[in-house]
This record gives sequence, C-alpha cells and structure tokens, in this order.
Amino acid sequence: MNFFTVSLIVYFSVGAGKSCTETTENQHYTCTGRNLSYIPSSIPSSIQTLDFSFNVLKRLRKTVFPVLSFLRVLDLSRCQIKHIENDAFHNVRNLTTLILTGNPITYFGPGGLNSLHNLQRLVLVDVGISSLQLQINNLTKLQELRVGTNNIQSMSLPPFMSSFKDFSLLDLHANNISVIKTDHTVLLREIGRNMTLILSRNPLSYIEPGAFKNIHLCELDIRSVFPSFAAQEIGLKALYGLNVKRLKFGKYNGGFRFHFSDTDYLYGLCSIYFQEVYYYIMERPNQPISFLHCMINATTVAVIGGVINKMEYVPFREIKELHLISVKLSTLPGKQLSHLRALEKVVITHNSAPIWADAFIDMPNLQYLDLSSNQITLYKCCTTLFSGTPQIRYLNLSQNIDIGFDLGGFDALASLEILDLHRTNVERVGYLPVLSSLKYLRYLDVSYSSITFINIFSFYRLKNLNVLKIAGNKFQGDVARYLFNNLTLLEHLDMSYCHMVELHPSSFKNLQRLRLLNLRGNHLMTVDFLAYPSLKQLTSVYVNKNSITTIPLHVLQKLPANLSEFDLSSNPIYCSCSQTDFTLWIIQNQNILKQPENIFCKTFSQSLDFRATDFDIDSCVHMKRLAIVLSVFFITVVVLLSFLVYRFQFYLQYCCILLRGYRSPGQQECSYDAFVIFSSYDEVWVMNELMENLENGVPPIQLCLHMRDFQAGKSIASNIIDEGIMGSRKIIVVVSQHFIDSAWCRFEFELAQSRFMMERNANIIIIILEDVEERKTKKVLGLHKHLKKNTYLKWSRDPLSNMRFWIRLRKAIIATNQ
Ligand SMILES: *[C@@H]1O[C@H](CO)[C@@H](O)[C@H](O)[C@H]1NC(C)=O
Ligand SMILES: *[C@@H]1O[C@H](CO)[C@@H](O)[C@H](O)[C@H]1NC(C)=O
Ligand SMILES: *[C@@H]1O[C@H](CO)[C@@H](O)[C@H](O)[C@H]1NC(C)=O
Ligand SMILES: *[C@@H]1O[C@H](CO)[C@@H](O)[C@H](O)[C@H]1NC(C)=O
Ligand SMILES: *[C@@H]1O[C@H](CO)[C@@H](O)[C@H](O)[C@H]1NC(C)=O
Ligand SMILES: *[C@@H]1O[C@H](CO)[C@@H](O)[C@H](O)[C@H]1NC(C)=O
Ligand SMILES: *[C@@H]1O[C@H](CO)[C@@H](O)[C@H](O)[C@H]1NC(C)=O
Ligand SMILES: *[C@@H]1O[C@H](CO)[C@@H](O)[C@H](O)[C@H]1NC(C)=O
Repeated sequence: MNFFTVSLIVYFSVGAGKSCTETTENQHYTCTGRNLSYIPSSIPSSIQTLDFSFNVLKRLRKTVFPVLSFLRVLDLSRCQIKHIENDAFHNVRNLTTLILTGNPITYFGPGGLNSLHNLQRLVLVDVGISSLQLQINNLTKLQELRVGTNNIQSMSLPPFMSSFKDFSLLDLHANNISVIKTDHTVLLREIGRNMTLILSRNPLSYIEPGAFKNIHLCELDIRSVFPSFAAQEIGLKALYGLNVKRLKFGKYNGGFRFHFSDTDYLYGLCSIYFQEVYYYIMERPNQPISFLHCMINATTVAVIGGVINKMEYVPFREIKELHLISVKLSTLPGKQLSHLRALEKVVITHNSAPIWADAFIDMPNLQYLDLSSNQITLYKCCTTLFSGTPQIRYLNLSQNIDIGFDLGGFDALASLEILDLHRTNVERVGYLPVLSSLKYLRYLDVSYSSITFINIFSFYRLKNLNVLKIAGNKFQGDVARYLFNNLTLLEHLDMSYCHMVELHPSSFKNLQRLRLLNLRGNHLMTVDFLAYPSLKQLTSVYVNKNSITTIPLHVLQKLPANLSEFDLSSNPIYCSCSQTDFTLWIIQNQNILKQPENIFCKTFSQSLDFRATDFDIDSCVHMKRLAIVLSVFFITVVVLLSFLVYRFQFYLQYCCILLRGYRSPGQQECSYDAFVIFSSYDEVWVMNELMENLENGVPPIQLCLHMRDFQAGKSIASNIIDEGIMGSRKIIVVVSQHFIDSAWCRFEFELAQSRFMMERNANIIIIILEDVEERKTKKVLGLHKHLKKNTYLKWSRDPLSNMRFWIRLRKAIIATNQ
C-alpha cells in the first residue's frame, strides 16, 4: 500500500467521524467530502442550504432525506448517485435549487424531479443524459436548466415548457449537438422571451437557414461551435433574422487555424440584430481585414484575442463601449475612435507588441479609458494625447513601459477620479507637482513606477484623494514626513516595499481618516508613528516583513482603538525576560493580529526561532527568582571570602612574601640570628635567661624579640613575617603551657614551619620550657612531630644540664645551613 492510499484512508476515516459544519447559524450546512452514506440526523430541520457534495449516496430513496421543509438549496454533486426513485425528494420538496452535477445517473423515477414544484434552478451537468426530454413537467417555476457536458444531441425542449413563464436560461455547453433545424427552435420562438442560450463547445456542423428567424434572445453563446472557418461563415449566415441582445461567438472547436481569403467572412452578422457583440478571435490574417463593419449598429463591441495589428475605421452609430483585448495592435487607435461622440468606455489592453498612441480627440462622453498592459511609451502625457475628452473619470495606464508627465499635462483631464499608473515607469511625478490639477482625484496608484519622491509637493492639491498606492518606490531624505500633509481625506495608504528605514512620528499627522496603512516589506525598526493621536480611525496596519524588534509599552498603550487587523509577522522580534511587555501584548492580542502564528522570536539561528505566542512568560518569573537566588548566593560568597581574607590576612600576606622570597632566595639578607617565638607569660624567662645567655655570650647571638625589635607603625603580621621569620636565620620556639594556649604563638609557629617547609634543615629549634601533656601538644600543628623526633632542647634548672643546654642551643643556632 503506498503512501497516497494510506493518507486517503486516514483522511476519509477521520472525515467520516466528523459531523457537518454549520456555516451560518442554523441555515447553512456543509458536509462536503466526508464519505457519508446518509444525511446526519444532527442536522436541524430548519436549515436552508445543504452542501452534501462528494459523499456516497448511490440510490436516492424517500428515506434518504429527513423532513427538511425549509431547505431551499441542495448540492448533491459527485455523490455517486445512480438511481433516483419516484419519491426521493418528497421530504425536501420545497427546494428551489437542486445540483446533481457529476452523478452517473442511469434512472430517473418519473415523479422524482416532478415533486419539486418550487424548483427554480436545476443543475444536471455531467450526469450522462442524452436528451432534453426530462420528466419535469410539474416544474412550472423553473428558471434555469443547466445540462452542460452531457450527450444531448438535440436542443429541442419538451413542449410543456412553453408554459414555464420564468424560464430564462438553457445551458447546453459541451454536448453533442451537431444539427439545429427549424423544428428544434419552435419552443424558443413560442416562448419569445429574453432567454439566454448557451451552445458553446457543441460540434455544430449545420444550422438550417432561418432556424432562428424572429427569435428573441437575451444572449446567445456560440463560442467554439463551428468545426471550421467555412462552417462559421455559413453558420452565421444561417442565423439571419435572430434578434439577440448579446452575441458571443468565435473560436473554433479544436482550435482550427487558417488564412483569410474572404474579407467579408463575417457578412452573416449583418443580418442578425444584436446590441452587444463579443468576438473571440483566433485568426492571424495575412492582410488587413474588415471584421467590424457588420457591428456598426452595436452599442458594445468586444474583440478578444487574435492578431489585428491595425484597427479599421468604422463610423459606429451608437457605440458606447469598445473592448480590444489581446489583439496585438501596433498603434493605439485614437484616430479611429476620435469623434465617436457616444463612446463612454474604451478598454484596449494586453497588446503585447510595442504600440504607439494616436490622440483621442472629441469624445465628449468618454468616461472610462483602460489602456493598461500595452507596452506604451509616451514622452509627454497627456495634453497631446487627449483633447475634447472632458469627462474622463477613469484612466488606467498601468503596466506599460514609460510615460512622462509635464506640468499642466493633466489639464485636459481635470475630471479624473481614478488614475492607475502602477508598474509603468513614470517620469517627473515625484519631482514636480504634475498631478496638481487633479482636484477630483480619489484613487491614485503609482506603485512600482520607479519614482523617487524628492518634492514634498508631489501630491499638492490632491484634496479628495482617498486611496494612495505608492508601493515599491523610494523617498529622498525625509520627504515622507511632509508628503502626505494635505491629504486630509486619505483612507488607504500603501507604502509597502519602499525601502523605508524610518518614518517620522508626525508623517501622518493630518491623516485623520486613514483606515488602512500598509508598510509591509520596509526596513522599519520602530512604529512610534502609530501612537500619533490623529490616527484614531486606523483599523488595518501591515508592518510585516520589517526590522521591528520590539514595540515599547507607551506605544502599545496608544495604538488606535479600533485597530482590528495588525500584521506584525516576519519581523525579528526580540523576546526576552527583560522586556516581557511586548511579548505579553502579542499573546493577549492575537485576535487583532494577522497570522499570529508567523510572529517569531528571533534567536541566533533561524532554525531555533520560535513562535512569539509560545513564549513562556512564566519561565521569566522563575528566571527572576533564580537571578535573585544567585545574587544572594554571590553576595554571601563575597562576604564570606572577605571575612576569610580578613581573618587570614597574615597567611595571605605571608604567602605573597613567600612567593616573592622563593623567587629570589639568595637575595634574602638576615639581620638576626634567631627569632624567638614565645608566650608573653614566659617573657621573664626569655629576657633574663635566653637573652642574657645568648646575646652576651661569645660570639654574641643577635635575637629578634617582638617587644624589642619589631618596627613601630608596621602591622604585627608584617613585623612577624618581615623582621622575625624572614629576617632571621633560625627560629627559636619556647614551648610552655602558655605557648600552647596562645593563638598568636601557634600562628607564629605555623608561619615559621611553612617558611622552612621547603628547606629541610633544622632551622626551627624547639625549647621545652616546661612539660606539657602530649595530648595538648597535638593542638599545635607540627609540634607533636618535632617532639616525637626528639629534636628539641629541654630547659632545666639543674646547673649541669643547664650548661649543656646553653652549649647545645648555641651550637644549634650557629650551625649554618648547607
Ligand atoms: C467510505 O465509507 C464506506 C462505508 O460507508 C467504506 O467502506 C469505505 O472504505 C470508505 N471509503 C474511504 C475512502 O474511506
Ligand atoms: C404533477 O402534477 C400533476 C398535475 O398537477 C399531479 O397530478 C401530479 O401528482 C404531479 N406529480 C408529482 C410527482 O407531484
Ligand atoms: C455524437 O453524436 C454522433 C451522432 O450525431 C455520434 O455518432 C457520436 O458518437 C456522438 N458522440 C458522442 C461522444 O457521444
Ligand atoms: C427583454 O428584456 C427587456 C428588459 O430586460 C425588456 O424590456 C424587453 O421587453 C424584453 N423583451 C422580450 C421580448 O421579452
Ligand atoms: C444599421 O442600422 C441602419 C438603420 O437602422 C440600417 O439601415 C443598417 O442596415 C444597419 N446595419 C447593420 C450592419 O446592421
Ligand atoms: C488597471 O488595469 C490593471 C491591469 O489590467 C488592473 O489590474 C487594475 O486593477 C486596473 N486598475 C483599476 C483602478 O481598475
Ligand atoms: C498644504 O496646504 C497649504 C494651504 O493650502 C499650503 O500652503 C501648503 O503649501 C500645502 N502643503 C503641501 C505639502 O502640499
Ligand atoms: C470605532 O468603531 C466604532 C464602531 O464601529 C465607532 O462607533 C467608533 O467611532 C470608532 N472609533 C473611532 C475612534 O473611530
């Protein structure tokens, strides 16, 4: 099973589960394409319209429809209906429109359609019928019968239809009618009403001459019916005596092309009475042809397609409307149309060959002139092109090549209300106030016209302008700030794709009626101008595809009150927890935002961009909390660190000095032989015994004693480090009970140990002044180790050991380091 089948089955099985959709409250229901084989009972009996197309009904029985007495329109297109029983429509018999398009109906019960007494429109397109002899004799209110794309071979209607008073449209397009004889049109003649008859795309090879004589029709469409050029010439002649308001003909069944031999090939038209004629031409004549002269009495002439090149001159009597569309004219036929004083509307468009323009002169009733899509190049418009055409209200010169305008160029077109020049290069419009004589102008389109607006008076005096489209042009400097100042009636302004980088907030200050503002596809970063108080009436604003990252809260608060369509999509929106106002506004105002699903928050990579409406504002609260927690933590750490630094400043300082010292150990000069670490309680012993014995002995030993040798004004720590520990070769530690209890002593001892940690020599000399419990020595870092190794001197009052003590001590101090 391939993917397509799978997806189809999924689609249908999902679809079948759904009930029908209500489109207007209790009136219109659509169940289209749901593979339903029954009418869901959930449908209320009051509905008026039911679209049940593309389902599976197969056989229409009375039981198919519930009683729906208000149902007027029923669409059963392509429901695979084959069989329609007699009483099939009994429950929906008030229908006015029944559409059965595309059902392969093989059986119509005689009473099936006939029960629909109120039916006005019956559509039996592509149902496989081969005759118009339908059992519809009771449908006396029938107005339209559409039976295109069947196998019908004769256009004769059943006789009972002569009593159908409102019958006005018979659509027989794309059947198999090849012959029309006088007795086929009897009923048309009898009805004698303004009927529309569509016979296009039938293979009509023969019309009996006079078959349409004295028949009145509203419209006859015989496009693509004649199998050949010759058949058309004969066929048109055979239509003599027909009186039709609108005749549409031309083109050939199968696209037959040929060369002209007979310049009078449309002669048959001269004996048909018509007012409007639409000629769909395919020919490419090899010589100038005359195809308009039988149209001389028409009020509307339209020629579409083919190659005409040059229009012939025809003294039309009453022509009001002329359309020449895609006929490859090489010249605008101003000369041929001039002095046709009844002409009101001229449409000459889509002539792809480059064409020149003849002047339009003396056409006092001309109101509507569409010359769009013609490749026209004109250096000076419009004084020479128009004269005596004071009524022109509509002029369309769009999609041409290049048109230049002069000051005063529009003086002959002072009534102009609608002027369209889009996608034609126009010269001097942004440069001189060439439009200033158009005081009635309501609609101006100069989009994509290669204009650079230089002059703030470009729209000078266009007081009545309602709609202004200047998309795809450029502005010099801040011209846009003043350009619109006097357009007080403007309601619709299109400035999309104008390369605008910024707009001054007062640019629209006088546009109090502005309702639609289109700034799509510029490079705007701000929309502050929307907060301008004069823009109260704005309902639609398009600023999609710009460079807007955010809109500040004060602008959002002053947006026009009735704004109902605001397109912000495709901008690089910056969503962050530091500015949630805008994102929150987007989430809350999706009802006025156009395509809110296309408003994306910009990230570093396009693939990571996400919808602004998915932005999780709650997470910002968490983020904020996290930020607070982190900062509290940080502050705590800083405080703690400062405290530690303060507390251990000596160690730190010492470390610095150590690092300094280790870097240059040789340069360290020692001013003392030994630094003595002791508790102040033991000062008496130190002064009386230690100092006496060492400093006054031979050789004298210079001791560093804190109370005597430390420099005043220096911190104790610095003194300990600089003078004591670093400034002495050896350290003498006087261990006593007090020493162990003193924090300062412990500190000094630890510092001392760390200095000599690198140098393994016995530079620390321990003196045990009094016995200390072993347990207590463990309190002092490293002391226990020294004591265990027995590398200490013990003080004793006994004179003999006393003597030995001093000798050993002296030796220990004097011993030099290796
Ligand atoms: C349509 O519905 C019928 C039953 O009503 C079912 O047999 C058939 O498979 C369905 N078709 C699809 C394409 O789902
Ligand atoms: C058609 O009209 C005739 C006469 O008015 C009537 O007898 C007959 O019942 C109608 N047929 C249907 C199907 O309504
Ligand atoms: C059209 O009608 C002709 C007879 O007039 C017949 O031979 C031909 O098969 C029909 N064409 C179609 C497509 O039914
Ligand atoms: C055709 O319709 C027009 C108005 O649409 C009407 O004036 C004219 O009388 C009608 N002609 C016939 C023959 O019914
Ligand atoms: C046009 O109308 C005039 C006068 O009504 C008539 O003499 C002439 O034959 C008509 N010409 C055509 C081509 O219908
Ligand atoms: C002018 O002609 C162009 C091309 O035919 C068309 O798209 C446009 O809508 C016309 N302008 C007006 C104002 O009707
Ligand atoms: C606007 O109108 C005033 C008074 O009519 C005029 O003086 C001024 O020049 C006009 N400004 C522009 C930019 O058209
Ligand atoms: C907004 O619309 C309402 C109803 O459409 C209208 O009454 C009101 O005047 C409008 N407000 C503004 C400022 O145009």
